[in-house]
Amino acid sequence: MKKIVIFASGSGSNAENIINYFDSNENVEVVRVLTNNANAGVIDRVRKYGVAADVFSKTELFESNFLQLINSIKPDLIVLAGFLLKFPQTIIADYPNKVINIHPALLPKYGGKGMYGMHVHRAVVANQEKESGITIHYVNENYDEGAIIFQKNFEVITTDTAEDVAAKIHELEFRHFPEVIAQLLES
Ligand code: GAR
Repeated sequence: MKKIVIFASGSGSNAENIINYFDSNENVEVVRVLTNNANAGVIDRVRKYGVAADVFSKTELFESNFLQLINSIKPDLIVLAGFLLKFPQTIIADYPNKVINIHPALLPKYGGKGMYGMHVHRAVVANQEKESGITIHYVNENYDEGAIIFQKNFEVITTDTAEDVAAKIHELEFRHFPEVIAQLLES
């Protein structure tokens, strides 16, 4: 059985979509969801599926106990799905090419600290970009800079609001993120 651990900070619609996708798969399981936000929507969303959701503080994330927790699970893939804190270097070092993130823009554009969620979509609309998209990439020590695994673009039309862009992004994320995860687990 291949084990996935998901990190999320917010609503968790991607986390739910990934859990749903692998629900009937006998070889892959989302074993744990971890969040730094006790009020995150992701907690109730995933508990409905019987997946354990644990809350930790930013301080705890960087303590050795946290790495021990991850090591006790031994995930085959760590998936950041709307996770907004910097990810600990110690975990990245122990899980080379096993920590991936989804970013709601075509990196290297609109990446880096402070560029997340609606901030990205507002900037895309303000700059009258003709396209945006999603990027799935490996996580390294810098925000949004690890090697790119997958990108998919779409056309931004002049009437699109930041909310419209967000909705199109989510649609692409729901369609492609679980498939990319499945491929990575097979390779
Ligand atoms: C997603 O669109 C994801 O790409 C983005 O946050 C959203 C989370 O939605 N991630 C980032 O901006 C990371 N820099 P969700 O909580 O409903 O899955």
